[in-house]
Amino acid sequence: MSFRIQPTPIARPNRCQLFGPGSRPAIFEKMAASAADVINLDLEDSVAPSDKDSARQNVISAISDIDWGTKTLSVRINGLDTPYWYRDVVDLLEHAGERLDQIMIPKVGCAADIYAVDALVTAVEAAKGRSKKITFEVIIESAAGIAHVEEIAASSPRLVAMSLGAADFAASMGMATTGIGGTQANYYMYHDGQKYWSDPWHWAQTAIVAACRTHGVLPVDGPFGDFSDEEGFRAQARRSATLGMVGKWAIHPKQVALSNEVFTPSEEAVAEAREILEAMEQAKANGEGATVYKGRLVDIASIKQAEVIVKQAEMIG
Ligand code: COA
Ligand code: MG
Repeated sequence: MSFRIQPTPIARPNRCQLFGPGSRPAIFEKMAASAADVINLDLEDSVAPSDKDSARQNVISAISDIDWGTKTLSVRINGLDTPYWYRDVVDLLEHAGERLDQIMIPKVGCAADIYAVDALVTAVEAAKGRSKKITFEVIIESAAGIAHVEEIAASSPRLVAMSLGAADFAASMGMATTGIGGTQANYYMYHDGQKYWSDPWHWAQTAIVAACRTHGVLPVDGPFGDFSDEEGFRAQARRSATLGMVGKWAIHPKQVALSNEVFTPSEEAVAEAREILEAMEQAKANGEGATVYKGRLVDIASIKQAEVIVKQAEMIG
């Protein structure tokens, strides 16, 4: 065990991040009225090149004009390999109101990508006398991103969340699929005449969770493209929650309730976690480090596991 204490991530609900194209201002009010914890107004890949300037203007106006309530308000800028990103950053920080909380940086490949955006953001914040320091979230969605995931997680004190972007990730890795998250037909084990589907996103998710937990960043699961497949979404989201992710994107309003459902600890899970904590209190009073709860071992590590669930429920509550 390292003597370094694992840093605690920012305490905010992040069960669902609802996306909407910056070029479609008609849905902004609907996004604000949704039950998503985080709103991601997009300037990147859901906006056509011909609409980049107008989308930026729409988003800047909407940041001040719309009542976003208590949601985290984030804008996804264009990637550092485009001619758009610097203007996104400069215009947002020069002209958008203080309601803006966060910038999402897509397709990050190394820590220096974050450094570059941080330098620009820091300079414009100082020049404009902005009082609120903008936080960052990043998307891991390339071979370079996953190869350098740990240095990216450690890159800046502004960084608070990191998502897996399945579609670009699959493309960058050369994966033989056009699916965006979820079960992939050709990724299976075969035994005794039966196919058993496996999860091709699993390793990337766990790499992200480990990097994030090491550096106090929230790990988030990205998009699930087939918004007609509710059970598929649930299954993917449950796997992500089981692995330590705190939330998932919604690319259609239908997915918001599903995500909130999966990433809010159930009453039964919270009740059981509290019972485990009580059982361990009792064990401690008896001078024991381990005891039996419902026929299974619980020990001092179980306290930490139970606390994850209780703390998550209290923070959301
Ligand atoms: N947020 C809030 N409301 C939305 C919405 C969104 N992202 N997408 C659609 N809606 C609204 C529609 O306006 C419609 O409202 P109405 O009932 O008042 O008319 C309702 O939800 C149903 O929409 P639907 O007709 O099923 O979808 P659509 O064809 O209008 O849009 C998408 C489908 C996928 C194009 C759209 O949801 C979308 O752009 N999603 C986000 C894409 C994105 O940002 N991608 C980048 C991240 S991967
Ligand atoms: Mg992408």
